[in-house]
Amino acid sequence: MTDTLAAPYTAGEAKAPVKRIPVAVLGATGSVGQRFVQLLDGHPWFKLHEVVASERSAGKPYGEAAGWRLDTLMPSDAAALPVMSLGAELQSRLVFSGLDSSVAGEAEDDYANRGCVVVSNSRNHRMDADVPLLIPELNANHIGVVERQQKRRGGRGYIVTNPNCSVVGLAMAIAPIEWLYGIEMLHVTTMQAISGAGYNGVASYAILDNVIPFIGGGEEEKIETEPRKILGRLENGRFVDAPFRISAQVNRVPTIDGHLMTIAIAMRNRNFVNVDQIREAIDNFRGEPQHLRLPSAPRKPLHYIHEDDRPQPRLDRDRERGMSVSVGRLRPDPLLDVRMVALVHNTIRGAAGAAILNAELLEAKGLL
Ligand SMILES: NC(=O)c1ccc[n+]([C@@H]2O[C@H](COP(=O)([O-])OP(=O)(O)OC[C@H]3O[C@@H](n4cnc5c(N)ncnc54)[C@H](OP(=O)(O)O)[C@@H]3O)[C@@H](O)[C@H]2O)c1
Repeated sequence: MTDTLAAPYTAGEAKAPVKRIPVAVLGATGSVGQRFVQLLDGHPWFKLHEVVASERSAGKPYGEAAGWRLDTLMPSDAAALPVMSLGAELQSRLVFSGLDSSVAGEAEDDYANRGCVVVSNSRNHRMDADVPLLIPELNANHIGVVERQQKRRGGRGYIVTNPNCSVVGLAMAIAPIEWLYGIEMLHVTTMQAISGAGYNGVASYAILDNVIPFIGGGEEEKIETEPRKILGRLENGRFVDAPFRISAQVNRVPTIDGHLMTIAIAMRNRNFVNVDQIREAIDNFRGEPQHLRLPSAPRKPLHYIHEDDRPQPRLDRDRERGMSVSVGRLRPDPLLDVRMVALVHNTIRGAAGAAILNAELLEAKGLL
């Protein structure tokens, strides 16, 4: 059964900072920004210190500017913070970004060039040659490129990114299969929740009683490219993409949170595929955040669910506070080799929660 969002943090093995680290959130008033504010409340390592948004919000107290839309109360400390305008001088070195992509590229570069560590959700810098596209369970070693980026910028600042919200679910679900057999190609069809479009993203009149078979902003292209960087290798300071090919079709559906996807996979070596072995590899998978016991790390990054009609967004998206990906319906595929269903909470594991976990990894590795 699902866990709740309450009491999220447990003591971890990685050494906690002596004092909580002050952090800023860029785009703090948006869907992802509000998740940051919610998840940072009571965080054992980080303390929300500054909030930044557009000129529309700047100068107002956060409580007035945000138009809070989450189902927990707005943290009172956050409500009192004055919203700063983008570009303002920040006291925090650690900066989370949930900025609209129309402004994120330049603003994140600007803060990194000033010496900040920018941990971003936006798509703008994900594919840059010296920017890690991180899922700490899968490619924690990719933070090795940070030094090269710092040299390019000529200071201590740098950017790390987390993937597109659907890609987090897809890459995590397929990683144990890639490592077991090697993936030749896969096809994925997503059913994406409306929160993924931001609060003003899809009109209720357009999405209720409907499915929209298109998501703008290059969604399919991101799903077809980002997993190859994430599951690729870092060789002599350069990323080498994983060789598999992806075909993606995306749909916006009238769920609030939780991106569901069906995936069919062909392996490079088709002779030895064993469905039970894959199921076991998925359910037993653990990564660096679990070994380090980072504060936001789920106990299990992947949960295999055995019921025939699961995972489902409403029933499974909050598993382990929204930080675990749920997988089910793994079975042979008559065209390719295997098929399955995966579910990711798009604004937690697919966005703000992912970025906070990335920052915890950076702190644990001495990079903050
Ligand atoms: N929603 C998801 O599930 C999800 C998942 C992964 C990644 N992302 C990415 O995360 C980013 C934010 O998405 P969202 O869904 O949270 O969007 P959103 O709800 O529309 O929020 C956008 C934020 O950016 C700020 N902003 C917009 N224009 C600005 C400007 N010119 N100057 C300064 N600030 C500006 C807004 O401030 P005001 O309120 O003041 O306008 C708001 O805080 C996007 O890049 C998106 O692609 C979203």
